[in-house]
Amino acid sequence: MSKRDLYAELARQARGVFAGERDPIANGANLAALIWHGLPDLNWAGFYFLKARELVLGPFQGKPACVRIALGKGVCGTAAAEARSVLVPDVHAFPGHIACDAASNSELVVPLISNGRVLGVLDLDSPRLARFDEDDAAGLETLARLWVLASDL
Ligand code: SME
Repeated sequence: MSKRDLYAELARQARGVFAGERDPIANGANLAALIWHGLPDLNWAGFYFLKARELVLGPFQGKPACVRIALGKGVCGTAAAEARSVLVPDVHAFPGHIACDAASNSELVVPLISNGRVLGVLDLDSPRLARFDEDDAAGLETLARLWVLASDL
C-alpha cells in the first residue's frame, strides 16, 4: 500500500471510530491506537494538550512519557509555539530535543488547531532515522484536523 493510501485508510478508520462521539479524550485515545497499529516503525504516538502555557500528556500508545513540556521547548513545544508541523529526521541533531524514550531517533509533530487557536500537538516518534517525510506530515495533519472537527473542544 502506498503511503498516500495508508493515510487515506487511516482517515477512513478515524471517521469510523469518531462517528457519534464528541469527547476529545475518547476520540484522541482511539486515534492514537489507530495510528499505533496502522503505521509501521513507531515507538510512540500520542497527544499533548496545551494548558496554561504548558503541554500536558494526553492519550497515547508507547512507553510512559514526559508529562509536562513548556511551550517553546523540545520538538513538541516548538510545534505548539509556532503553530506548524515540525519534521525532525534526527532528534539527536535537534537542539533542545526532549528524550522521553531513548529508542527515538526521528520525530514528527503536528499542531492541533481549532478556530486559529493551538490546542496541543499530535506527536509521532520512530526508532528509525528519517522515518517521516512531507507525506507523513500531510497525512498526520489531516488526521489531526479530523480529530478537531470530531470533538467538542
Ligand atoms: N521528544 C519530544 C517529547 C515528547 S516524547 O517524544 C513522547 C520533544 O522533544 O518535544
